[in-house]
This record gives sequence, C-alpha cells and structure tokens, in this order.
Amino acid sequence: MRLLGTGVVIGGLAAMVLAGCATGQMAARKPEEVVAERQRLMKLHGALWKDIQDKAKAGNVEAIAVNAEALALNAPRIPSLFPEGTMTEKSKAKPEIWQKWPEFEKAAMNLKMESEKLRDTAKTKDANATQAVMKSFGKNACGTCHQPFRVPPPKQG
Ligand code: HEC
Repeated sequence: MRLLGTGVVIGGLAAMVLAGCATGQMAARKPEEVVAERQRLMKLHGALWKDIQDKAKAGNVEAIAVNAEALALNAPRIPSLFPEGTMTEKSKAKPEIWQKWPEFEKAAMNLKMESEKLRDTAKTKDANATQAVMKSFGKNACGTCHQPFRVPPPKQG
C-alpha cells in the first residue's frame, strides 16, 4: 500500500511538471532570471542594429539582410519575456506594459514587420532605398515600443 501511494505521488508530480512546461516555462522562473534573459535579447538587438549601421556605412548593403532577419525572428518572442510580475529593481520595463498588453504585443509585431521591410529592401542591394528604411527604423521599429514601455536610460554626455 505504502509503495503504491508513493507511485501515485511521483506520477502526480511528473504530470505537474509536464503541465508546467506546456503552459509556459516562464511562470516557474524567478523574475530576476526573466529580466536578465530579456535584457540579454535586447542587448543583442542593440548589437544587431549597430552592426546594420556599420554595414551601411561600409556600403555592404546586402549583408544587412541577415541582421534584419534575426530581428524579425526575435521580435515575436518579446512578449513571452515579459510575464506579469517581472518588475525588478534592475528592470527598465514600465508597468504600462501590463496595463496595455495588446499594444505591447502590437509593438513587437511592428518590429517584426519593420525588420522584414528592411531585410527585403537590403536584399535588393539598393543603397538609397535601404538608407531610407534605416532612417526611420530606430524610431519606428524600436522607439514605438521603448517610448511608451521603457524607462529611458540616463543621458550620457
Ligand atoms: C515590444 C517592445 C520593444 C521593442 C520592439 C524593442 N524593445 Fe528594446 N526594450 C524593451 C523594454 C521593455 C526594455 C527594458 C527591459 C527591462 O529592463 O526589463 C528594453 C531594453 C532595451 C535595451 C537595454 C537592454 C539592457 O541591457 O538593459 C536595449 C539595448 C534595447 N532595448 C534595444 C532595442 C533595439 C535596438 C530595438 C529595435 C531593433 C528594440 N530594443 C526593440 C522593449 C522593446
């Protein structure tokens, strides 16, 4: 009887773990971990964008497409890195994210669309057209989300 009971408990635990995985791993993670993970993704976004500008300066327009594609693939993942209750001291996320969740999701999809536009334009190797998309990219693709949803970083110099 005792053995049987243990089996039931273990089986139940396994079912809970499986259910937890299916409904979203983030829920089980500490807020600090989630914040570190999304800041890691955003740092990569910053690096990808800087690289895009460097490639444009070097006249290497077609090579921008791969960076833009990475941004386009990452963009839909952004909302999953902002589960409710992940406001920590280190986080620059604004509470508006959770108050206006559909708009936050829209801003992530906007980054995806803008990145795809940049990717497709870069692929044509048309430097002028690519510059034109890039000119408003920071404001359109990143700023559309940062402006309402992120505490601005302190001004340096
Ligand atoms: C859908 C919203 C959204 C979009 C789109 C977005 N960001 Fe962010 N970004 C945020 C939020 C929110 C934070 C603050 C996260 C935190 O500290 O918890 C952030 C933080 C950052 C940071 C600081 C990371 C750190 O080390 O703390 C950088 C750099 C950054 N974003 C770059 C970019 C770039 C470049 C783009 C466009 C290519 C972009 N982001 C697009 C929401 C967004």
